[in-house]
Amino acid sequence: MISPNPFTPQSGWEPKIFGGRNPELEIFKSNLDDAASVRPSHLVVLGEWGAGKTSLLKQFKRISQENGFPAAFCGISRFTEKNKALDAIHLIAEEMVLGFPEVDAARKGLLDLFAKRKSLSNAQVQFTKFLLELWKALDTKLAVVLLDDAQNFMEVSNTVDILRAVLSSDDIIKETRFLFILSSTPAGWASFIDKHDPVGRFFRKRLSAENLKETEAMATIDMTLKGTGVVFEDSVRKNIFEYTGGHPYEVQLLASHLYDSQIEGEVSLRAWDSALNKTLKELGRDYFEYLLSKASDREKDLLRILAEEKKPITIRDFTTMMIVGKRAKKFPIANIKNFLYRLEVKGLVKRSEANGFYIPDQMFSEFITRIASE
Ligand SMILES: Nc1ncnc2c1ncn2[C@@H]1O[C@H](COP(=O)(O)OP(=O)(O)OP(=O)(O)O)[C@@H](O)[C@H]1O
Ligand SMILES: [Mg+2]
Repeated sequence: MISPNPFTPQSGWEPKIFGGRNPELEIFKSNLDDAASVRPSHLVVLGEWGAGKTSLLKQFKRISQENGFPAAFCGISRFTEKNKALDAIHLIAEEMVLGFPEVDAARKGLLDLFAKRKSLSNAQVQFTKFLLELWKALDTKLAVVLLDDAQNFMEVSNTVDILRAVLSSDDIIKETRFLFILSSTPAGWASFIDKHDPVGRFFRKRLSAENLKETEAMATIDMTLKGTGVVFEDSVRKNIFEYTGGHPYEVQLLASHLYDSQIEGEVSLRAWDSALNKTLKELGRDYFEYLLSKASDREKDLLRILAEEKKPITIRDFTTMMIVGKRAKKFPIANIKNFLYRLEVKGLVKRSEANGFYIPDQMFSEFITRIASE
C-alpha cells in the first residue's frame, strides 16, 4: 500500500521531517539555558518567503516546553496604516493569553487591562502592566514568547520599539523572565532598524533561516519517503536539489507533486516535467507572479535573457547581445545598467563578484521561461 502524500507544501505546515537547522537549534538551546539562569537575550529569526521561519519557531516552542518552560506561539497578522500600535500590542497580548494554556480561565480577565484609549504611552504602560500580571499567573522560571511574522507590524512599526522599551524597563527586568523570539523577513527587519535604531541594538542576536544544504535536503526527502512505499529515482532526487537549491518550501512542493506521480511506487525522470510545471504554476500563484510584477517591461526583457542563459551576464555582454546576434533588438542600451541595478534592489537578481548579474532562484528562472512566457 502506498501511504498518503507525506510532504507538507503549505506555508506554516510543519514538515514531517524537520531537516537541517542544527546550528540554529543549538544556539536556541544555549540561549534558553542562559535565559533561565542569567538573563534573556531576545532573538530574531530572519528568512525570506517560505524559508522555514514558522517551522523553526514551532520547533523552538517544542524545545522550550520540553525543558519545562511554557511557550506561546503568536502569529502576527497584517496591520494597515489605519491601525495604531495599541492595536498591535493588544493583538500580541491576546495571542499570549491564548498561547499559554497555563494561564487559567479566571486570569484571562488580564486583557481587561487594555482600556481602548489609543495613545502611544498607553500601549507601553498597558503592555508593561499586562506582562507583570501575566507573569504572576504563569508561575514559572521562564516563559517563551514566539512572535511569527513581525514584518506585518510594518505599518505600525513603533510596535517593535514599544516592545523593546517594555522589555528593557526596570520592572520587567526585575519582576519577570520572558524570552521573546521574533521572526521577520530581512527587508521588514531592516525597515524597523532604519526607523527605530535602538531596536537593532536590543534584538542583537540574529539567526537566519537559509536554504537547506544538499545533504540536509536529500536526507529530508529520503526520511520523509521512508515507509511510504514510494521511492524517488536518484536522478530525481538530484534534480530536486539542483532546481530548488534547498529552498524548504520549494522542496516540499516539488517533492509533493513528484510523489503524486508515482507509478507502482516509483518516481522516475519521466514524471519530472509535469511535476515541475505544476510546481511552477503554484509557485506563480503563491509568489513568483507578484515578484515578476515588480519588474517593468524592459526589465522583464533582461530577466528573460538571464533566465534562458542560466549564468551570470555582465552589463557589457548585455549591451553586445542587444546589438548583434539572435537577441539583437531595439533596446535603450544606455539604460541597461539602470535596469539591472533596479532589478537588484527589487530582489529579482543578484550580482556576482565579477559583476555579472544572475537570477538566484533557479525555480524563478524556470518560471520565467516555462510559465510567464507562455
Ligand atoms: N527545516 C525544514 N525541513 C524540511 N522542511 C521544512 C523545514 N522548514 C520548513 N519546511 C517546509 O517548508 C515550507 C515553508 O515553511 P514555513 O512555513 O515554516 O516557512 P516560512 O518562512 O514561515 O514561510 P512564510 O514566508 O510563508 O511565512 C513548509 O512546507 C514546511 O513544511
Ligand atoms: Mg511563516
